[in-house]
Order: sequence, then C-alpha cells, then structure tokens
Amino acid sequence: MAATRFELAGKRVFVAGHRGMVGSALVRRLVRENVALMTVPRSEVDLRDQAAVFAWFARAKPQVVFLAAAKVGGIVANNTLRAEFIYDNLAIATNVIHAAHVNGVEKLMFLGSSCIYPKLAAQPLREDAMLTGALEPTNEPYAIAKIAGIKMVEAYRSQYGADFINVMPTNLYGPGDNYHPEYSHVVAALIRRFHEAKRSDAAEVVVWGTGTPRREFLYVDDMADACLHLMKTFSAPELVNIGTGEDITIADFARVAAAAVGYRGRISFDPSRPDGTPRKLLDVSRLAALGWRATTPLEEGIRLAYQAFLRETGQG
Ligand SMILES: NC(=O)c1ccc[n+]([C@@H]2O[C@H](COP(=O)([O-])OP(=O)(O)OC[C@H]3O[C@@H](n4cnc5c(N)ncnc54)[C@H](OP(=O)(O)O)[C@@H]3O)[C@@H](O)[C@H]2O)c1
Repeated sequence: MAATRFELAGKRVFVAGHRGMVGSALVRRLVRENVALMTVPRSEVDLRDQAAVFAWFARAKPQVVFLAAAKVGGIVANNTLRAEFIYDNLAIATNVIHAAHVNGVEKLMFLGSSCIYPKLAAQPLREDAMLTGALEPTNEPYAIAKIAGIKMVEAYRSQYGADFINVMPTNLYGPGDNYHPEYSHVVAALIRRFHEAKRSDAAEVVVWGTGTPRREFLYVDDMADACLHLMKTFSAPELVNIGTGEDITIADFARVAAAAVGYRGRISFDPSRPDGTPRKLLDVSRLAALGWRATTPLEEGIRLAYQAFLRETGQG
C-alpha cells in the first residue's frame, strides 16, 4: 500500500470525543506534536445536532479531524439501548464527516471497530472481511451505524477527492475506560471486580463463560500512537486494522488482570454464561507493512490501567 506524507505540524487539529478513552489518549499524544489542538465539550456542541456541528466547523475551521466521538458500550448496553446506538452513531458520523467536507478539512480519520466485522468471519480478521456476512445480532445497530460512517468516508474520497481515512481498532483498554458495573467492556469489568474482591477479601471471583474464548487487547496510548502514524503516512480507501496481532484466552487474561490488581483469591468460571465468539483477533499485517507495531506489553498496560482506575475512582 502506497505511503504518503501528511504534515500535522502547525495545523488546527480537532479531536471529537476528547473526553472519551480514545479521545483523551489522542489528546495526550497530540500535545507532543506541534499542533493547535481543538476540542469542544458536548454541553456546547452535541455532535448529534447538525446545526450546532455545522456552525462550529464554520467558525472554528479545523484542518484535521480525529472522529473519536461515538456512543459505545459493552454487550448489555449495545443490546438494550439499540435505538440510541444506531441514532447517535449515525448522526455523529453524518454531521461530522459532512461538516468536515463542506469546511475544507484537509484530513479526517474515522474510527470503526473490530466488533463490526461479520460474526463468523475467518480469523484473524482481515480488512476485506467487512460486509461479507451477517453481523453479531446484539450489536447490529451500532455496527450498521459504524459501517455507514466507513462508507461515507469511502464515498467522500471517491466523489470529492477528500483525504478521509478509516481505521478498525481492536478491543482497547487503559485510562479513561468505562467502569460501569453493567455497561463496561471485559478489561474494565475485570479490573473493577478484582479490585472489589481484593478490598473485601473475597475468596473467589467468578468470571462469565468458560474462560476459553481468545481476545486481543490494545493499550489505548498505543492506539493513539497508531492513529497519528496513519494520519501522517496513510491515504487510501482501504481500512486499516489497529491491534497487537496477538490474542489471549479470557482465563489467562483474568490471571494477568488479577496479578496486576493484587487479587490473590480463586478465579473460577461460570460456563452457564455466554462465551461469545470463540476467537477475535485482527490481522495486522497491513498496519505492520505501513510501519507500526504495538509496544506496550499486556502486563504493563494492565498495570497502568489499574493505576488509572484507582486515580479515576478517587482511590489512588
Ligand atoms: N473502547 C474500545 O474498546 C474501542 C474499540 C474499537 C473501536 N473503538 C472506537 O473508538 C471510538 C471512541 O471510543 P471510546 O472507547 O473512547 O468511547 P468513550 O470513552 O465512550 O468516548 C466517547 C466520546 O464520545 C463523546 N460523545 C458521545 N456522544 C456524543 C455526542 N452526542 N456529542 C458529543 N460528544 C459525544 C463522549 O462525550 P462525553 O464525554 O460527553 O460523554 C466521549 O467523549 C469509537 O468510535 C469506538 O467505536 C473503541
């Protein structure tokens, strides 16, 4: 895939969703670049509000956009708030991508997700697996909205020549994660549960499912670094997966997380709970060919994530 060179230095760079896990990691990474960072709180511009988004872009005139705002959540949130997941994510994507085009944004990155590949796609997941099969029913509304955003980026590239690109991150974890007891992803959920078990001296933590499914996890600061790398060096209609290219069983992951938290009790598994797909791993050969690979080992990342959890929940 042909390499390009896009200069970020000196540009007005808008991070949409700057208070989120990915957005705040992008902000941490961008302060090391010579850019004019732009953010706007949701209380000022709700990205679902077309008039507010168009007015803000016309006024602020960002030159570069990282579109890291979205309604996201774990399986329970996705499955119960189905209308909100499709409406919010469609509205955010259409408003921001179109406003970027109308206002002459030089480059935009849209964030897809590994969970919008077909449910039964071959593993490791290659970028060309998108739209080759039925989606996971529990997060179909979210996936349809994200796929629409991806297709908008492709269409604006082809019709208007816009330098807009799409990336497909794997499961992320780190500072700014959502620790909601019902609505969180597996990493945050286990950090919280091991922490609570350690505090209460619980003898056992029961993890949902058999522990055998394999998952890939990327530290969010690595993700931000990959995004900047691709923003500077990649321009093509194709998707680019962002991950580590390595997976781990949930059982082994639970042991790593328990060790990082300092929980020494028993870990058991509840096979009556659903496992989900047996394996989810991204093929990262395209990303590697573009010159980037993850650098934070899982043990180190989880240790940093736990420190952030303690800080963010006022226990640090
Ligand atoms: N987390 C993962 O494991 C993962 C994996 C793959 C892809 N991704 C993608 O990465 C992106 C960011 O995810 P994340 O984990 O950083 O999510 P997050 O922590 O929930 O952050 C989402 C951000 O979007 C903002 N937002 C949501 N709705 C908005 C609205 N209507 N108007 C203005 N801002 C709004 C939120 O603002 P408030 O702070 O005001 O709520 C928040 O700052 C998403 O596109 C997601 O699909 C994430």
